[in-house]
Amino acid sequence: MTKTNDDETVISARHETDNLDPRTDAPAPDASAEPVTIAPVRLGPITVPTPVVLSPMAGVTNWPFRVICEEYGPDGLYVAEMITARALVARNPKALRLCRFAPSEKIRSLQLYGVNPAIVEQAAHIVVDEHMADHVDLNFGCPVPKVTRRGGGSALPWKTDLFREIIQRVVRVCGEADIPVTAKIRVGIDHDHETFMEAGHIAQEEGCAAVTLHARTTAEYYGGHSDWSRIGELVEALDIPVFGNGDIWGADDALEMVRETGCAGVAIGRGCQGRPWLFADIKNAFAGDPARVNPTLGDVCRVIERHAELLVEFYDGDERMAVHDLRKHVAWYLKGFPVGGSTRKVFMECENLEDVRREIGKLDPSMTFPERVKDKPRGRVRFAKKVHLPYGWLDSRETTHEQRETLFGDDPMDASY
Ligand SMILES: Cc1cc2nc3c(=O)[nH]c(=O)nc-3n(C[C@H](O)[C@H](O)[C@H](O)COP(=O)(O)O)c2cc1C
Repeated sequence: MTKTNDDETVISARHETDNLDPRTDAPAPDASAEPVTIAPVRLGPITVPTPVVLSPMAGVTNWPFRVICEEYGPDGLYVAEMITARALVARNPKALRLCRFAPSEKIRSLQLYGVNPAIVEQAAHIVVDEHMADHVDLNFGCPVPKVTRRGGGSALPWKTDLFREIIQRVVRVCGEADIPVTAKIRVGIDHDHETFMEAGHIAQEEGCAAVTLHARTTAEYYGGHSDWSRIGELVEALDIPVFGNGDIWGADDALEMVRETGCAGVAIGRGCQGRPWLFADIKNAFAGDPARVNPTLGDVCRVIERHAELLVEFYDGDERMAVHDLRKHVAWYLKGFPVGGSTRKVFMECENLEDVRREIGKLDPSMTFPERVKDKPRGRVRFAKKVHLPYGWLDSRETTHEQRETLFGDDPMDASY
């Protein structure tokens, strides 16, 4: 049901299933199936040898986490979390911190988010002029109400003029420095308002080097299973590479997505939360190697400690900030291990590196990785209750003069990351 209030349009989303993973009942992958062939992907002057992408995740994919992932899968593409164009233009210190890369990162990949084409263009200028990145991704997939309410993220491709203008401007600026631009999109706002096909064509026409499709609508948020058939449709329709995204929890899922859709590569979000070795598993799987990383709790603890140390560097020596950032990761790292609620709680109370090391030291390093969480869904898994959009957003596919004035007055994301 779509309702227009005084100041916004709201879709009350209805969902036919709460099933987190309809594939759990699917037949096991056919061992005799054709082997998957996957080739390096070219993005302008950049070659991604193993086309596996760490999907940008706000609050997660800062350089310490990217470095750890890249150590497991050294040939992929590891994208930083989204940077709000307005915050970058304002030189907000938190936004600038998120633009930093570690010296070991081979392809410095940034994601920009914005609604106002002029501001996003200014942000692209900063990235180019200050040699901040080698690749720029544009965020048109965010489903968060405070973003879509202002026409941003996954609401934006509905307005084809705005979508095209943002891409056009950023591609022009980045093109001068030979920096490839890609776009990350969803299927649409809901199934009555799908946008991916048109958005894919516009991205291609305007010079994007690739698109990533998260095969869910805004209304689907992170619930149910993404519909990979939509990835296949986009692959068929476009000439540029399409990265498939949604519900890759293990290396077999990555193989299956490529087999089912013909996508040029895969993007991994929640599946690597607390499991950065997934990049090694997928790299092996793509190379036809059955080897998989099977860490003990002791191995996981070494990753936690290293992650904590890198975060201290990221926060310029501020151990408290580092350890607070680490908390959500520790919850993911320990998921499924029978370590008890009090252990988890105590990690949430750590205030410095010494606390983390002390708690790690109390865990049994010989514990094996829990089968029941291996290659299973993790992180956010719920549907949206409602989709919030700007007033009258769905009335037409182009922005009106009034809408632009209202939208560009301010941006939904301030710099309070
Ligand atoms: C905590 C979190 C933060 C995210 N932040 C971003 C972001 O900054 N930019 C973006 O394009 N997508 C973001 N996403 C979406 C993911 O990149 C990805 O598209 C989505 O999780 C689906 O992939 P998955 O099923 O592998 O998780 C985020 C997802 C999560 C769970």
